[in-house]
Parts: sequence; structure tokens; C-alpha cells
Amino acid sequence: MHKLEKIWLFIGTGALVVFLTILGVSAFRFGTEPATGHKPIDPTKITETPPFDNPGVEKLPDGSYQVHVIARAFSYEPNKIQVPAGEKITFHVASADVTHSFTIVDTRVNLEVVPGTMIEKEYTFKKKGKYLVICNEYCGGAHQIMSMEIEVV
Ligand code: CUA
Repeated sequence: MHKLEKIWLFIGTGALVVFLTILGVSAFRFGTEPATGHKPIDPTKITETPPFDNPGVEKLPDGSYQVHVIARAFSYEPNKIQVPAGEKITFHVASADVTHSFTIVDTRVNLEVVPGTMIEKEYTFKKKGKYLVICNEYCGGAHQIMSMEIEVV
């Protein structure tokens, strides 16, 4: 085998090992995972489509919590919620217009909210306090004011 061929084979294999190591460490050490559950939803009928006909916090009979949030330019509905610490919360988020994000600062919840799909994500807040939700997908002129508050009690 030509020497240069060996070198490039080594670089190629090395890059693959580095890539898989980073992927493995982020998945198993830091718990990074793709967002779960994408269900189709008609963005024009979002306010009539359960669970978004009733945005807010819902406590289920099994004691778990669901939060339904509508994202639209340039706000979240509701824009302030209260949830308990240490409980499993399932967020359901959908957009009524363009692509937004649902990013809870200082957590690993960072959802891309594409119109036409409902996105689902479980999260348990360990620490009490106020958490800021921001939109990090550019969605128009007032994108930077789009936010909501989650108070964990
Ligand atoms: Cu919504 Cu940026």
C-alpha cells in the first residue's frame, strides 16, 4: 500500500473514532437525546385541537403533569406557568405559524417547534426557582422578545 494511502486511512479511521467517542460521551455521559414524539397537527386549527384548546398545566390522574404550550409570533401561550419540582413534566409544544423554539434556559430542553407537528418532551426540574423560556429560532421582527416563565415550586 502507498504511504499516503496509509496516512489517509489512518486519518479517516481516526476521525470516525473521534466522532463516535463524542457521540457516545454526549449520549451516555450528558444524556443528550433527540426530542421524542412528533405528531402531525394542523397549525391553522391549533386552538381547537386538543390538548392545545386548553393551554397550560394539567395534572393527570397518575400524578404526573402535562404542559401544553402554543408558540406563535411573538409569544407563548400561556406565558407564565407554575410546576412542582421533582415531578415528571411532559411538555407538548406546537406552533401556530412559523418555526420557533422552546428553549428552557439552563436545562437540556431545547425543542425546535416546526409548524405542522406537535413536539413532546419529558423533563423533571430538580431545583426550584424561575426558569426562562426563550425562542432561539429567528421567527420575525420581534423574535427577541418572545419568552415565557416557568416557576418551579
Ligand atoms: Cu419565535 Cu423566534
